[in-house]
Amino acid sequence: MSRATRQQELERRRAAAEAGGGPARTERQHKEGKLSARERVRLLLDEGSFEELDKLVRHRCRDFGMEENIVDGDGFVTGFGLVHGRLVYVFAQDFTVLGGSLSETNAQKIVKIMDLAMKNGAPVIGLNDSGGARIQEGVVSLGGYADIFLRNTLASGVVPQISAIMGPCAGGAVYSPALTDFVLMVEGTSHMFVTGPDVIKTVTNEEVDKEDLGGAETHNTRSGVAHFMAPDDAACLRQIRRLLSFLPSNNRDEPPRKPSSDPIDRMDQSLDTLVPEESNQPYDIKDVISRIVDDGDFMEVHEHYARNIVVGFARLDGRTVGICANQPAFLAGCLDLNSSVKGARFVRFCDAFNIPIITFEDVPGFLPGTDQEWNGIIRHGAKLLYAYAEATVPKITVITRKAYGGAYCVMGSKHLRTDLNYAWPMAEIAVMGAEGAVNIVYRREIAASADPEATRAEKVQEFKDRFASPYVSAERGFIDDVIEPHETRPHLIRGLRMLENKVDTMPKKKHGNIPL
Ligand code: HXC
Repeated sequence: MSRATRQQELERRRAAAEAGGGPARTERQHKEGKLSARERVRLLLDEGSFEELDKLVRHRCRDFGMEENIVDGDGFVTGFGLVHGRLVYVFAQDFTVLGGSLSETNAQKIVKIMDLAMKNGAPVIGLNDSGGARIQEGVVSLGGYADIFLRNTLASGVVPQISAIMGPCAGGAVYSPALTDFVLMVEGTSHMFVTGPDVIKTVTNEEVDKEDLGGAETHNTRSGVAHFMAPDDAACLRQIRRLLSFLPSNNRDEPPRKPSSDPIDRMDQSLDTLVPEESNQPYDIKDVISRIVDDGDFMEVHEHYARNIVVGFARLDGRTVGICANQPAFLAGCLDLNSSVKGARFVRFCDAFNIPIITFEDVPGFLPGTDQEWNGIIRHGAKLLYAYAEATVPKITVITRKAYGGAYCVMGSKHLRTDLNYAWPMAEIAVMGAEGAVNIVYRREIAASADPEATRAEKVQEFKDRFASPYVSAERGFIDDVIEPHETRPHLIRGLRMLENKVDTMPKKKHGNIPL
């Protein structure tokens, strides 16, 4: 074979891989508002940084006419590249080739980059757009999925894993994204479900369309399966780049520093009047967060789900912090089933990846009700407790207003080995609200009194004076200091600097048994 022929052969194979399922299918993809797999990879990575692997792989299936249906690369685009100059691994399913279905060889391509990611300590990003297991390959394809699930599990807590759903994702295939750290979905074009609308209709007689069943809004607001929602592919890929800017490459690495011109001693006086005088009035905890963190830059995670707790990434002094905050503007900031699980998952992610946890606490307690009790608020609330207790990263808690009952203990209290605990002067720290407490403790006295209402009011005031303040806790050292709201940013930054080299450990064990 001459040099020219060899060159032609390579070019032919490369071009065939790049053409994927051909122009007609690519056009259909575009018409549906979706980018092609290669366009997505290009937008995700720094320009010109993509190194493709296994572009010339072919499937080995010879049943059902598949010997006539061979595309170089077999549809999946896999390899490595840079995001903000840092190494990442990526795979993108090409829906134009056999519906992006997962073949034995495609599974091997994903496994290859995941193994490299583990050895080299860099995040894995999956861009999913697939009809699931390649039907013609049968169990071989299922085995391929299970090989990936194993890698997802082994990589959990070692390198960040991010899944973008940019098309269909059905059947058992949903479990790979579900095992990763963050799931992003594109509005209108992405769907996730274990069984689709037709099967549901047959089995349960329920009528539901695929958007309602498993679209971006459903999984961002109702199920909590997805953490982010984007209007289109390009916006979704920008979200991934932004998310990566907060994360370390692996569990041995520190998160990247982003120097900021925001002064470390900046004091925002507007914080002093942000919390209403009346303790039953709402305010938006996100206003507190954005006034304290570097440049007001806060990337919220799970924004549309369990909105009574707010979690997300920001920076203080240029360093990434994970923020977990009760939201008084929603359900008064009560902890319930979903917010407990949302908070626990976020706290555990931060702990796994060396990201300090800043907690802003304003919580009247756990949400009462049979729905909560019967659905296991005991078990789910315990997850949040467990997550805070096991976290060994630097932890700082600021009580902005209420810290009542079990919720006081849960939300990064001193007793769960939180390093620094601050309270604002209007903080109320008690077993329960004054009204509830008086009704229990002084029930007989009130009933026997000549003027029960006057006695009740007097006792309530007595309770408030004694407990509805941060000082009983401060006197005990459960609170390290009572600080003015405007002083919060400098206090947090000095605290984080002090904790920079913190070492804390867990007792030797295989793994704990978080109450799942
Ligand atoms: C092989 C597939 C395929 C699959 C789609 N195609 N899914 N080929 N295996 N799983 C092919 C189609 O034959 C078609 O080929 C092309 O991809 C595009 O598919 P369309 O049906 O034309 O596209 P659309 O109308 O957009 O519908 C997309 C879809 C539908 C909703 C994904 O294709 C579909 O329902 N596919 C089957 C989904 C499924 O049941 N998968 C198995 C799930 S179980 P041509 O040549 O015409 O372009 C599973 C188990 C995983 O995945 C278990 C892990 C434990």
